[in-house]
Amino acid sequence: LYSWFTLMRTTNPVTYDEDHHAWNVFSYKDVYQILTDPKTFSSHILPGEGFIETSILMIDPPMHRHYRNLVSQAFTPRRIAQLEPRITEIVDTYLDSVIESGKMDVIQDLSYPLPLVVICEMLGIPMEDRDFFGYWTEIVIAEFAKFQGGDLEAQQKLGAYFLQIADLRRKEPKDDLISALLTAQVDGERLSDRDIQSFCMILLLAGSETTRNLIGNAIYALTEHPEVLAQVQNNLELVPQAIEEVIRYYSPVRFAFRVATSDVILGGQQIKAGQLIFPWIASANRDEHHFTSAEHFTLDRPAQQHVGFGHGIHFCLGAPLARLEARIALTSMLQRLKCLRLSHEEHLEAIVSPSLQGLQKVPVYFQ
Ligand code: HEM
Repeated sequence: LYSWFTLMRTTNPVTYDEDHHAWNVFSYKDVYQILTDPKTFSSHILPGEGFIETSILMIDPPMHRHYRNLVSQAFTPRRIAQLEPRITEIVDTYLDSVIESGKMDVIQDLSYPLPLVVICEMLGIPMEDRDFFGYWTEIVIAEFAKFQGGDLEAQQKLGAYFLQIADLRRKEPKDDLISALLTAQVDGERLSDRDIQSFCMILLLAGSETTRNLIGNAIYALTEHPEVLAQVQNNLELVPQAIEEVIRYYSPVRFAFRVATSDVILGGQQIKAGQLIFPWIASANRDEHHFTSAEHFTLDRPAQQHVGFGHGIHFCLGAPLARLEARIALTSMLQRLKCLRLSHEEHLEAIVSPSLQGLQKVPVYFQ
């Protein structure tokens, strides 16, 4: 994939893909321009009936701002920092259960359950129901990744479940996001059931799989670059920098999606109103016109220039949470698991989603 990005950036930075009926955009400059201009490049690509289509991820201004304001308070770096003790406790519990064995699968044993537990606790979704919503969430993510409107049955199942929880909270509010959303107002009006369902859906979806891949990709990238691993192990203060570099180098979200609202020229190509566009975040993050030695994994970079969390009005709402979870998970792993190395006995397979980047398993040994 990365050699394809390099080739495309040099030869065809803005290209129409006949098979997918969409424009692929590869350079940092053009990707950045798309993300910065929601008026020309709308996020409302599917007028479908699912809950994701009506979530903040896929709506445009001015409604986007109203809806985003409702939840942004819960995701400020200050509010998120208050979760540190609880996240540390969860991470330690998972590490306790594998530490004696000298091996673990980073995905199954830590990075899959961690973000799921955290976002469920924030929302107020009981973990006892994990088998149910875990199953349907995987289906929604897999189907949604095809950009054909997602699996409606799975979305309905999850949506009905969120409403059951909301009914319980209506009778007996708790200190969680679902209870807060029930009393929130936009333009003097309470949120509809559908709004509540859309929020729960997007937070559960966007909050779980991406962070799982980030932690998995981080361990993979660090074990692949032992000199960087040693550098971080010797100075754990470098963990946040390492996380930013992982997001740049192996971007967990490969591309965003937009639809042109009017005819526009981008990178010398004529894009027509109504056409679908994929700005490739993972390619922009390796653009040699923007990053010196872009193909190098190094901690020696000015902070946070990547577009791994997007840019502009849809900039990732959960970035402070993802950063915190990844920092705690990596710091604890590097502190507690000595001589960490990747198991080469198993062939590592990538996850199937086209839009997300991660590994199905990251088996490691340690002492
Ligand atoms: C938006 C990446 C974790 C919630 C985005 C976007 C990207 C992104 C690229 C912009 C999409 C666009 O412009 O179309 C990531 C990555 C993550 C991560 C790489 C982890 C490594 C999270 C977490 C949450 C979250 C933990 C919530 C708990 C959201 C939401 C949006 C969003 C709600 C839509 C914001 C809006 O449209 O205003 N994310 N994300 N993300 N992310 Fe994340």
